Amino acid sequence: MLFQLKSIKPVLLSATLLLISAPSVFADDKPYTVTNGNELDASSYAGFKLYRNFCARCHGTYGQGMVGPNLAESLKVISKDEFFNTVEHGKTGTIGSMPAWSSNAKVMKGREDIYNYLKARADGAIGEVKPKKAN
Ligand code: HEC
Repeated sequence: MLFQLKSIKPVLLSATLLLISAPSVFADDKPYTVTNGNELDASSYAGFKLYRNFCARCHGTYGQGMVGPNLAESLKVISKDEFFNTVEHGKTGTIGSMPAWSSNAKVMKGREDIYNYLKARADGAIGEVKPKKAN
């Protein structure tokens, strides 16, 4: 009896922890808000502007791909860590070569915003349309 009680405790503890952490998991699942089809929250709108300045010439105006791969598709597959790593260190692969962004403070600081915009594209929450900033 004593043994059974002991072994059930960690299970209860981890179940509780799971419940507590659940909301933040959801928050990470959808790091953007899109209203009226093209109105973005401040972070993902800032991400779009950085994306347009630094990434669009290779990855297409809305991430649809050009010299570089379609990032709306990539973000369905790669993790946030992989995204951050690739942006920081660049990538040379079968498609071509992307420079590292580690020395670009704007991009490095805004990586999360760029990720949020591209995640909205990957989820189909916003299409290949020009975003606006939501009021
Ligand atoms: C000079 C062209 C160029 C620019 C500018 C550029 N990229 Fe890339 N990017 C590439 C190429 C080419 C690849 C594919 C490398 C390979 O795997 O062959 C790539 C790959 C990637 C990948 C990996 C995709 C995957 O499926 O693994 C990510 C993420 C990415 N780029 C994000 C960005 C972001 C964010 C920016 C802007 C800050 C950016 N890129 C700017 C050319 C570019």
